[in-house]
Amino acid sequence: MKNKILKLLEKKNIENKIFNYPLHDDALSKEDLAEGFKVLVSRQLTMSKKTKEFEDYFRKKLKLKYCLMVNSGSSANLLSLFALTNPKKKNRLKIGDECLVPSVCWSTSLWPVIQAGLKPKLIDVDLNSFSLSLEIIKKNFTKKTKAIILINVLGNTSDIDEIRRFATKKKVYLIEDNCESLGSKYRNKYLGSFGDFSSFSFYYSHQITSGEGGMVACKNKSDYLLLKTLRAHGWDRDISKHKQTKNFNFINSGFNLRPLEISAAIGLSQFKRLKKMMAVRAFNRDMLINSIKKSVNWNNQFNFFYPFKNVKPSWFGFPILLNPKLIKKKEKFMSFLNKNNVETRPIISGNFVNQPAIKLYNINFNKKKLINANQIDKRGFFIGLPTIKLSNKKIKILTELLLRISHI
Ligand SMILES: Cc1ncc(COP(=O)(O)O)c(C=O)c1O
Repeated sequence: MKNKILKLLEKKNIENKIFNYPLHDDALSKEDLAEGFKVLVSRQLTMSKKTKEFEDYFRKKLKLKYCLMVNSGSSANLLSLFALTNPKKKNRLKIGDECLVPSVCWSTSLWPVIQAGLKPKLIDVDLNSFSLSLEIIKKNFTKKTKAIILINVLGNTSDIDEIRRFATKKKVYLIEDNCESLGSKYRNKYLGSFGDFSSFSFYYSHQITSGEGGMVACKNKSDYLLLKTLRAHGWDRDISKHKQTKNFNFINSGFNLRPLEISAAIGLSQFKRLKKMMAVRAFNRDMLINSIKKSVNWNNQFNFFYPFKNVKPSWFGFPILLNPKLIKKKEKFMSFLNKNNVETRPIISGNFVNQPAIKLYNINFNKKKLINANQIDKRGFFIGLPTIKLSNKKIKILTELLLRISHI
């Protein structure tokens, strides 16, 4: 029985005869699965000690004040926005308060703003970091602005410490969506520790995975207790400050966004290997950029994504902006790559104002002003960046395929 199980946990290492370059590889090790398996056989499937262990370890390693595991990065954003508008929150946001959101965003960076009753204003991003910059924030900031959602895109960020200082000076909340940048640092400080609230995602393909999962971080105990109550039904169970006076005591509104214990076990095991996976991804990225730039066919067809000043990145994916001269070829090029088994996707979800769902709500934006977001939408895409070292053969094939753009 034991041997059978160990065999099941082995990674299926079948070398593909046909070239294949997916967006994400299987980053789960035998040890990660074994940790999950231990939880399974313990029969403690619902959130318990492992979740607490992961939260404590994560908080200490990233030097966060408080953090709480949830069932996804989207849930982390949802909890942050609902905490900010909750009657228990001191200086809470009010219905209709304006919140700046980058127009290059993920759907659940934006929707929780609306779901919590706030008014998003979608604004442009910086073309080098794909994130908001202080300059862009200042241009769009008005008396109505009460919060800023900052997304650290694909392992990078922009002038985040200046943005933090600006938000403090203006007395507005900074929500740091760090779902794509676990492990990256700005001036030696981990991303995810700048916002009043921050989110992390452990979805498949991110820097670490627990299948589904995420963390929400905050800076003070009352916010932490509020998040904890909202995470589980508005219940006062496990909230030491509010000593239970009776069973089934509900002290607030709430959701059920608790993670599974098995996700915590796998997530913790993965998190302990984060540095190793980051190093392999950085190695693969360097190899790929060098190979493309050294090719005889290199003719500045692409702009690569480089770390912003003072950023030590933890890469997620390999984003590319096509040379503006090649914009017209993008669609054909994407289908060429896909036909040749190179999976592609937009950068986050491109300029979100082009998504059909945007029409369902009355959202404030001026499309003409979203100049860089449009560039990212029209010229941008990304391919995977695996957690195992790419072979020279794979890099050679990938280089050739990418540079075929000149002949499309
Ligand atoms: C910027 C950003 N925010 C939030 C999320 C949501 O995370 P999850 O998939 O864990 O819900 C993602 C997902 O990829 C993301 O890219």
